[in-house]
Amino acid sequence: MLTPHLHRSTATSELVYENVPLSDIARQFGTPTYVYSRAAIVANFRAYKSAFAASKPLLCYAVKANSTLSVLALLASEGAGFDIVSGGELQRVIAAGGDASKVIFSGVGKRTDEIALALAHHIHCFNVESEAELYRVNDVAIAQGKRARITFRINPDVDAKTHPYISTGLKSNKFGIAHLDAVRLYTLAASMTGIEVHGIECHIGSQITELSPYIDALKRLLSLVDDLSARGIQLHHLDIGGGRAIVYEGETLVPMADFAQAVEREIAGRNLDLFIEPGRSIVGDAGLLLTRVEYLKPGETKNFALVDAAMNDLIRPTLYDAYHPVAAVLQREGEATLYDIVGPVCESGDWLAKERALVLQQDDLLAVLCAGAYGMTMASNYNTRTRPCEVMVDGDEAHLIRERERFEDLIAHERIIV
Ligand code: LLP
Repeated sequence: MLTPHLHRSTATSELVYENVPLSDIARQFGTPTYVYSRAAIVANFRAYKSAFAASKPLLCYAVKANSTLSVLALLASEGAGFDIVSGGELQRVIAAGGDASKVIFSGVGKRTDEIALALAHHIHCFNVESEAELYRVNDVAIAQGKRARITFRINPDVDAKTHPYISTGLKSNKFGIAHLDAVRLYTLAASMTGIEVHGIECHIGSQITELSPYIDALKRLLSLVDDLSARGIQLHHLDIGGGRAIVYEGETLVPMADFAQAVEREIAGRNLDLFIEPGRSIVGDAGLLLTRVEYLKPGETKNFALVDAAMNDLIRPTLYDAYHPVAAVLQREGEATLYDIVGPVCESGDWLAKERALVLQQDDLLAVLCAGAYGMTMASNYNTRTRPCEVMVDGDEAHLIRERERFEDLIAHERIIV
């Protein structure tokens, strides 16, 4: 099995997702197409539930990882809460039938209208990231005659040892409030009529493979909880931020059970509800990008496989130098060639994978794996390319969950002025 629920048929040498051959999906829906496995998403979500059975955390799925309505609806049906970073994400959660009372609102730049919308929907809590934002949340709550529950996102100043662009818990990052400011700001918040101090949060980064940065951050948060308690401010929940890393390229991960035990050991005996905001680890390895080889282009120093997906569809390789495994849908016999898998966009940075040993012919299908998280949500229309359609595989069936964008969609909001 290459990723959960993806296997190669021994009879046909073809990749099959759950019980659906990927070539059938390409035939029915075209390419490029994001394909997700329902069973893989559910299994990933349930893995948290069972590992954390003792502490029963509220699992607030980070909507930014994949915000397609069917994905949200599936997770809502599994009992998920949601971590949002915009009014738009809140509207998606509601459109998908999610429970707003299990929503937490993260992000450094919440607008007044977004705060008002979230309050109107009675979300669980705002993760406040600055003093200025605290004043704004207080004002909007008073205007609605409400009290807004808040946590402060603490910047614990620990090195998450991940890619600098997805590391968020260092002093030099824009996120959270400084550890040193926390007592002053909690005291201020506790004095505000529109605010109900509720919890504490940190999120130190994404794709963190080691346990120690999490535990270091957690210890720093717990010492603050004690400090605040001594000053008469009692917190009710502790939110450890995003979830575990996934395996893209042979990374060694701390087993989920060890992760859960380590976290539970730290919070044991405290009257604190646990919250987790996993994104990547719920959908990342539960999705792939299916693409077709348009041309093979042998070169003097490199061989290129030009495919119909591009950096606008999956920007992670371009943006983070990220590695995604690539598998030929039909495994051919023969000698492999090293290919750079590139798209048609007019940028040298338009690549999906480099130097992959594959046996390919023109028109072959490729599966870019581990593309379920931060794939479609980061897709753009650069080069006036319509974004891919999305398909959810469920057992023997493949459901279209988002149509391929059309050119008409791209120009729908434009006006010609000459
Ligand atoms: N909570 C907060 C406040 C976050 O900022 C994030 C991710 C998460 C939770 C979810 O973290 P996860 O469980 O997915 O590690 N586009 C990048 C990842 C950016 C992550 C941003 N924040 C990528 O493609 O690698």
